[in-house]
Amino acid sequence: MSSILNCIRADDVMATLLEVKDLVVKFALRGGDVTATNGVSFDLARGERLGLVGESGAGKSVTGFSIINLISQPGYIASGSVNFHGENLATMSAARLRTIRGNRISMIFQDPMMTLNPVLTIGTQMIETLMAHNLQMCKERARGIALEKLRKVHIPSPERRLEQYPHEFSGGMRQRIIIAIALLTDPELIIADEPTTALDVTIQAEIMDLLIELCETEGMGMILMLDTCRCRSGNWTLAVMYLRRTGY
Ligand SMILES: Nc1ncnc2c1ncn2[C@@H]1O[C@H](COP(=O)(O)OP(=O)(O)OP(=O)(O)O)[C@@H](O)[C@H]1O
Ligand SMILES: [Mg+2]
Repeated sequence: MSSILNCIRADDVMATLLEVKDLVVKFALRGGDVTATNGVSFDLARGERLGLVGESGAGKSVTGFSIINLISQPGYIASGSVNFHGENLATMSAARLRTIRGNRISMIFQDPMMTLNPVLTIGTQMIETLMAHNLQMCKERARGIALEKLRKVHIPSPERRLEQYPHEFSGGMRQRIIIAIALLTDPELIIADEPTTALDVTIQAEIMDLLIELCETEGMGMILMLDTCRCRSGNWTLAVMYLRRTGY
């Protein structure tokens, strides 16, 4: 059976931002290597939106982590390449990777608590993130950017909200804050790993609309991992993962 179920190109003529080619990721376990992705290939143009759809265990998260070279042991990239503007993220130096990961490429993790620290205010988390990425940035400037991003994701009263802790927000609002954090460095690409899974259906639709709006206003590319195809609007390219592969 073909491992490629479906792939629809929305637009084939734009410049390439990211090219993932024959990506094989394995986990070295005691009983032998387990193959998590077995030849994932796709590419993404600047400003393009790709929906990566697949059942649980298909390898969506592993693909996302591999793009930013964040697969931790015992996982490893066995073969393949992840070219961002023509540079292979899978083999570049840690120092060079730090200038791209979290700066030019942001990831919204499947588990929101991987992003938010429950004991720090939203403001502290956003300001510290910005200052860690840009050592020259002063606190006042970082606060201004944090407020601007909260406005972009339609958080009302952002000045007051900056002083609050994650538990003081609803699930949908927390997800908006996570998106605002991903936007802090004005990335060219956002990888969003099932960002709506924990939310009810109405809020899921609102977050999807927000992601599409941000791609359009900010000109960002986006890879959105989903377990079912919910990319009905917004001009998405779709790739379906099956048998831990995808391709054209
Ligand atoms: N830490 C790990 N150790 C061993 N194998 C792993 C590990 N993480 C992932 N895998 C393997 O990689 C495969 C793909 O996992 P992944 O988390 O990418 O799936 P997914 O498509 O994101 O699923 P879901 O929709 O449930 O989030 C899993 O089936 C598993 O075999
Ligand atoms: Mg996953």
